[in-house]
Amino acid sequence: MIVKKVCDLTSLKKGRATVFRVSGKQVAVYFDGKEIFAFSPFCPHARANLTKGTFQGHEVRCHWHGWRFNIKDGEGLNNDANLKTYPVTVQDGEIFVDFEEQQAEGNSIDNEDLFMSEIKWKE
Ligand code: FES
Repeated sequence: MIVKKVCDLTSLKKGRATVFRVSGKQVAVYFDGKEIFAFSPFCPHARANLTKGTFQGHEVRCHWHGWRFNIKDGEGLNNDANLKTYPVTVQDGEIFVDFEEQQAEGNSIDNEDLFMSEIKWKE
């Protein structure tokens, strides 16, 4: 279990996903107003930035080719790929992500720096 603080709740905007870098790993965090989800920002199809996709409930639709994923468990909804997702806990207004307890196997390219201009740096 490798639990890391990713951000404060106040840094999240309802209905928007943000990419954070923690210990060299990039993670997208989405707050729907009730729940918080953490997942790889890289679409398993062709590595588009999923934070630019369309979010509805527990679902994100990639803006490049329309692949859809459940951001809660990573299940591909119209494809056979899985998105990497991570357990999230909130404690005293701080968001923690467990990077070891991966809920679904996705691609393993999350160390790439594809979206550097969009990343909020941590540490
Ligand atoms: S890159 Fe996401 S569907 Fe193609």
